[in-house]
Order: sequence, then C-alpha cells, then structure tokens
Amino acid sequence: MQTLANKRILLGISGGIAAYKSAELTRRLRDQGALVRVVMTPAATEFITPLTLQALSGNPVHTELLDHAAEAAMGHIELARWADVIVIAPATANFIARLSNGLADDLLATLCLATTAPLLVVPAMNQQMWRNPATQENIARLQARGITLLGPASGAQACGETGPGRLLEPDEIVAAISAAGRTNQLAGVRVMVSAGPTREFIDPVRYLSNCSSGRMGYAVARAAAEAGALVTLITGPVALTPPARVRVIEVVSAEQMHAAVLAEAASCDIFISAAAVADYRSRQTALHKMKKQDTGIVLRLEKTPDILSEIATLARPPFTVGFAAETENLSDNAKQKLVQKNLDMIAANRVGDGLGFDSDKNALEVYWPGGSQSLGTAAKEKLARQLMGIIVARYREKSSQQTHEPAAIDVSD
Ligand code: PMT
Repeated sequence: MQTLANKRILLGISGGIAAYKSAELTRRLRDQGALVRVVMTPAATEFITPLTLQALSGNPVHTELLDHAAEAAMGHIELARWADVIVIAPATANFIARLSNGLADDLLATLCLATTAPLLVVPAMNQQMWRNPATQENIARLQARGITLLGPASGAQACGETGPGRLLEPDEIVAAISAAGRTNQLAGVRVMVSAGPTREFIDPVRYLSNCSSGRMGYAVARAAAEAGALVTLITGPVALTPPARVRVIEVVSAEQMHAAVLAEAASCDIFISAAAVADYRSRQTALHKMKKQDTGIVLRLEKTPDILSEIATLARPPFTVGFAAETENLSDNAKQKLVQKNLDMIAANRVGDGLGFDSDKNALEVYWPGGSQSLGTAAKEKLARQLMGIIVARYREKSSQQTHEPAAIDVSD
C-alpha cells in the first residue's frame, strides 16, 4: 500500500552537502504516491541542480521569490496553500535560524511563514554546529511552535567528524512523514467542526461578540482532514485561510450557526463544537444606527439556542465533542457540561494569560464518561492532532459497542 497516496508534499532543500540525498528522497516520496513540488534555496542549487529535482519530482523546481514567470504559474502563496505538509530536508543551521526568527528573505523561508500546513524539519549539519546553544535554542523555539523535528542521526560526517547532525536516511524520512501526516484513521468518516465567534447585531454597525480567532477550530478541521475524514467546517467571521480539502460554510450569528449545524447534523458522524457561540443576543436589532443618548441605555438580551446540546440530544446523534472555555474551576465546570449537555467528550481550556482565545497556544484537558487525558500546553495545531487521536479511539469504541451484527464467518481455508 502506498502510504502517501495523493499527499501534496512540498520538499524544501537548503544548502548543505546532504542536499544530494534529497534526490533519493524525492524518488521515495513519489514511490509512496506523494505529489512532490521542490523549492530550493539559492545555496542548495550549488550542491544539486534544479534539473535533477525537476526530473525526479515531475514538476518545475522553484528557487526565486521574485520570479515573475513563477508568480504567474504558482507563486509563494499558492505553493504555501497547495502543500499538505512542508518537509525541509536538509535543513541547515542557517535555515533553521532564519525559520526560528520568522525571516522571509527567500522563497522557501517565505512560504514557511505563509503556510498553515504542518512543517517537518530534518536537520543536517556539522556536529559542533548542531550542539551549539544558538542552534539548540532555535530548535527549541521551532518545537514550541508545533514544528516537528525529524532527526538528526548520529555518525560519520562529510566533514570528517563524528557525532549528531547527519541527515536521516530517505527511507526513515518517508516513514516519519507517513507517521506524522495523514493517517486514514477517519477515512470516509464525516466530521463537522464549528469554529470562530458569532456576532449578534444590536444595530446595523454594532454587535456583541467575543475574542475567538477560529484558530483552534480550524486546526481541528485540518487534523480531521489529515486523518482522512470528509470535513465540513462551519465558521463564524475570522481572518483565516481554511484548510485544504475542507468544505466551508460561513455564518455570522448564533442563529445562522444553529441553522447550518442542524441542517448538516443528519449527514455527519462526528460533531466537534469549537466555536465560541454567543450565549445571548439582543432582543431587538435596530433597523438604523442607534443615536447616542444623553443617558446610558439598557440592552435587553435573550438566550441563543444551545447548538451543542441540541445536537447531542437528537434521536440519532453524531459522536459529539464540546469545548469548554473556563476562567476558573476548569475540571468541575467541564465535567458538568459533559453530563448536562449529554456529550461523548469535552475538551476544556483555561482561557486568559495568553492561552485559549486569540492565541497560537492552548492547553487542553479532555474528559469523557469514565476517563480523561491531559494534553498540556502546546501549539493549537499540535493539540488538535492529539485531540483527534483521542476522538478516533473513543469514536471507534462507541461505534463497536453500537454494532450488534454477528461477526463475519471466515469460510476460507
Ligand atoms: O478561536 P480561538 O481564538 O482559537 O480560541 C479557541 C476557543 C477558546 C474559542 C476554543 O478552544 C473553545 O474553547 N471554544 C468553545 C468556547 C465556548 O463557547 O465555550 P462554552 O464553555 O461557553 O461553551 C460550551 C460548548 O457549548 C462549546 O462547545 C460551544 O461551542 C457550545 N455552545 C455554546 C453556546 C451556544 N449557544 N451554543 C453552543 O453550541
């Protein structure tokens, strides 16, 4: 079986002697069914020619940030969006330093900044450069952002020294990409994810809302797509690019989100409610912009429908996962919501102090009837993949309990 069938892999090559192994890596990736596009730094082209990589990948190789011909065909933003995963192999000490500092001074560094795809960094450098505290600090920063490090291996180096800093062998890199990426654990499973805030208008230009950026929900949708699910993302107003191969339904208010989620509920197997739906809306929305008064005004609010509870109490509910955003009593409040809302699972996050709302990081405690798991603090992309692993396990267990068909009888000999 091809482990990377149709997976869109952007292979970034930076300038080190190990760049010669990228040719073999490209072949092995294609053997596994991956679609490969190669981006090289200018220094990498000193070690191996773009023509070699073009022949092996079957696609033009990209080297220039300001290449007018390339921009017309596939510019850096398109490349960044195209990729399911970006693999930098080899990643030199210099490239790792540029990545850790968020520089955008060549095509490869720029599209690493512009992408929402997972980044896998495969270092290769002299052992002393690898051990240098500056490199180690850069690596730690990248890992804190959720970037995956593959290797390095240890052994004899091209410079004649021995130690850590060797590029992993192409087969090891392919195996690690297969393990880190799309797992097919949810192949054919229909997953609906809600994300972002809602806006409850009080007049044509003013609304009640919250600080949700949508990042957590989008990361969950991406993780579900990586696991092979057919994903529908119902999103409130956010400034994010949706993940690849995810069907998107845009809504604004809690009422619209309610209608969209209910309309899709019958055709989904798993519902994950990461949206920060407003609990209240104004009883009336003024037709025209409200005039400033000399005195204060009183806004009369009414409750919005609890979408999550409604889904969980349907006659044939999907596997239902809620989120709980709490500033205090995280565990007690989350467990209470799990029971009261009749959920299969809840992911609780303590919000505030730079975590939760409108932040790249989060900390999740996951509860289900009879169990829990702490995922600690990490980048939302990483947490979303870990959460998806727990959802897959619990969903399978529940599905197997609901299946009462007799076991198939094997008549082969
Ligand atoms: O978007 P980010 O900036 O990345 O931030 C992520 C997040 C903090 C918004 C996210 O991780 C999160 O916690 N989302 C749920 C926020 C929330 O509304 O929590 P709650 O405890 O108020 O609601 C509990 C659950 O009920 C949630 O799953 C919510 O989607 C759902 N709900 C709430 C109200 C309502 N009217 N209908 C609902 O379905």
